[in-house]
Amino acid sequence: MITRRNLLSGMAAAGLMHGLPFAGPNAMAKAQDDWARLFKDALADNPLLLGWQGVDGAPLESGALNITGAWPKDLSGRFFRNGPAIHERFGKRFRHWFDADGMIQEFRIANGQVRHRGRVIDTPKRRQETAAGKQLFSGFGTHVSGGPAVRGPDTLNTANISMLHHGDELMALWEAGSPTLINAETLAANGFKQWLPDLKGAPFTAHPKTDPDGTLWAFGYSALPRPTLLLYHVDAQGEVKSVAAVKVDYTGLPHDFVVTAKHVVIILPPLILDRDALQEPNVTFLDAHRWQPELGTRVLIADKSDLSKQRWAQLPPGFFFHHGNAWEEADGTIRLDLCWSKGPDLLFGALRNVMRGDITPAGNGSPHYASVKLPPGRDGVIDVSGDVMEFTKVAPSTVGQRHNYVYGLSAAAADTFPFNRLVKRNLASGATEIYAFGGHIIAEEHVFVPRPSQKAEDDGWLIGTHLDTQKAITNLAVFDAQAVSDGPLATAALPYPLPLGFHGIFVADT
Ligand SMILES: [Fe+2]
Repeated sequence: MITRRNLLSGMAAAGLMHGLPFAGPNAMAKAQDDWARLFKDALADNPLLLGWQGVDGAPLESGALNITGAWPKDLSGRFFRNGPAIHERFGKRFRHWFDADGMIQEFRIANGQVRHRGRVIDTPKRRQETAAGKQLFSGFGTHVSGGPAVRGPDTLNTANISMLHHGDELMALWEAGSPTLINAETLAANGFKQWLPDLKGAPFTAHPKTDPDGTLWAFGYSALPRPTLLLYHVDAQGEVKSVAAVKVDYTGLPHDFVVTAKHVVIILPPLILDRDALQEPNVTFLDAHRWQPELGTRVLIADKSDLSKQRWAQLPPGFFFHHGNAWEEADGTIRLDLCWSKGPDLLFGALRNVMRGDITPAGNGSPHYASVKLPPGRDGVIDVSGDVMEFTKVAPSTVGQRHNYVYGLSAAAADTFPFNRLVKRNLASGATEIYAFGGHIIAEEHVFVPRPSQKAEDDGWLIGTHLDTQKAITNLAVFDAQAVSDGPLATAALPYPLPLGFHGIFVADT
């Protein structure tokens, strides 16, 4: 366990305090092509593109939503979602789905009624660009030339991936910088969260894990100037218990991780930053990465009781965004879920092409459910025989413990993007229960919400949004997690469409 002083000196030595994950050269860009026009023309022919049209940033207020079916009376709280939403600013369209400013979607659920509010997250980056009247900063897959100096990761922070409610604080999460504090009443951005006073701008994952006792685990990765992983341990009240810095040969682009009862497990795909490429004109942070399958997939396993106790394991090469859950067998073998792809095609292809109106198949990037075993002292084994699955979630009561079910999204065809099915997978049998929304609908992540008197792992609801591209509206649906194939118990219809986002959380009323 390292002390805070050691941590901070280590961070300084590693250059993390000045490390700019996205700080490429701001060489003059060549003439921009007109992605905004391309997208507009394509949308006229393909209604599915509505999900990536974006909004102008004005606040959204729905009033009481029209509900079909019976919304469970004992499901009471707020469902928050986050995702890139302002896909065009000052006449220029972002070049990757990941780059737009984030927007919080809040669904307030009480007494069988649902209301929606939407608020753009007014980050320092957004405020600076608003004042300038133009885009100033490069993003993950968008190059902007001639902008002002980038003073740290949070200069580029779009707060656009997920949400976290911990220790009575509501936060919007990015992953290359700090969480953004959100006023829970007004939903206004309220500065950056600093887990430790001197740890300004340190990367913090969009997928922290909360143990059933309320303990929070998280990681951060920084590729520049020296590849480093940070491991965070935060108690249930929000106080940092420890942070460890792990120097690595490369970080890959690890987006998610898992915890068991005893360990933190971070899996690094072999997508490696080429520092020389980053110095070339007009090269984005994404395009400076090289797929190097010969390196395989590296797995860091750190002891929760002493984060400095670490071991490494190896898996075959693959790319992945999301995991599921993990647990340990009696002999110490770690078991975990992974949404496994053969390669990063989705990241470089479909998730970029869609911004100019081109919905392309996921190809080798098509994610499938995979089961991973990491025996003690040996390399890992992966079973990739599962069906298409992404945006996996589990019951919160099972985090780090053995679980029986994983919930996620799927698609009718193996290479189809986006997703239009909700799936419950039985891990023991491999059987799946499926609800198909229909070809004109794009489904988004559904989160598991336990019943107040939860008696079984799947005793609860799945709530999530889906975009109906025929009606041009977004719906919030609630499913009985024990009867997914039966379809929604109830659906609340918004009077407008929302941009497709990434992740959400449910905060129960207390
Ligand atoms: Fe994610």
